[in-house]
Amino acid sequence: MKSTYILGIESSCDETAVAIVKNGNEILSNVVSSQINIHKKYGGVVPEVASRIHVENISVVIDEALKKSELSMDDIDGVAFTQGPGLIGSLHIGVQAAKTLSWYFNKPLIPVHHIIGHIYANQFVEPLEFPLIALVVSGGHTELVWMKDEWSFEILGTTQDDAIGEAYDKVARVVGLPYPGGPEIDKLAKDGKEHYKLPVPKTEKELDFSFSGLKSAVIQLIDREKRNGNEINNADLVYCFQETALNILISKTLKAVNEWKPKQLVLAGGVSANSRLRYLISEKMKEYPETKCIIPPLWCTTDNAAMIAAAGTVAFKRGLFGTLDIAADPSLEMNEE
Ligand code: KG4
Ligand code: ZN
Repeated sequence: MKSTYILGIESSCDETAVAIVKNGNEILSNVVSSQINIHKKYGGVVPEVASRIHVENISVVIDEALKKSELSMDDIDGVAFTQGPGLIGSLHIGVQAAKTLSWYFNKPLIPVHHIIGHIYANQFVEPLEFPLIALVVSGGHTELVWMKDEWSFEILGTTQDDAIGEAYDKVARVVGLPYPGGPEIDKLAKDGKEHYKLPVPKTEKELDFSFSGLKSAVIQLIDREKRNGNEINNADLVYCFQETALNILISKTLKAVNEWKPKQLVLAGGVSANSRLRYLISEKMKEYPETKCIIPPLWCTTDNAAMIAAAGTVAFKRGLFGTLDIAADPSLEMNEE
């Protein structure tokens, strides 16, 4: 059978990334140009700066991905790109690059939802088996997604306010850790212990999440301790924050697994790099031997284009093509696919 070669482009936030993937699971090249060191100076991603750097980098990254794959555009079957969600200016650069390649080389254009990319990154670990539940945890998303079948997405639960990664980043900032805060809290919490009591926010729907109350509780706790002249132990504080946040995440995920009985539970998104989450979920999932727990390798938890090409390969096979008038959609919904 003829192989499928998809070129993927990802530029939704602060990574300019291009990858070429064979048959949806074999990476021929995966180039990521990160802007993190530039945004670090500002304590977060500055959208205007991000889009300008994407403009500078995109052609170079496309060239490098093609070179590394030892293919030319003639060999490529389709051009997949992140249509949304993300920062409009950043997305726009990837969309324009994808449209240009598609038009010039006469290749099908394949729009991909960024989170669907994160989910399909797990195909590099092993084939996805349906039905599955994806626990999507990133800087912009906290979702339990039910996939009854290939390319079918139903949101079982979502955050009512902050995404979990956002909560990590905000708590990190108030305790004086650099951006991005998630990996910093992951490290510092290893030296912490149970000490501070933090509240578990309530949600109306059982499988929904809420993290903004937890973040505010951390801020109030710091203020209170300062007022009382007590020194804060940052390691203990981030430990307690992390345990509370992960407890919420894991207990709801287990509830969903128990109720929906999927064949697989797959983790997706930047926060799935968290060492404590990876440990706790694999331990707890031992109680559910009918559901296989798949944790993506660290390299594909962060934004990359291989995941967009992997999801793009599935979309390509289903004939889900875009036209040249397609635009970036910063708040693209998953069920609009
Ligand atoms: O998937 P991603 O790159 O962004 C979106 O698509 O939204 O995830 C970025 C988020 C950031 O909030 C970052 O702090 C968090 O993932 N993150 C982590 C870890 N590594 C990255 N959070 C907790 N522990 C980590 N080890
Ligand atoms: Zn992402």
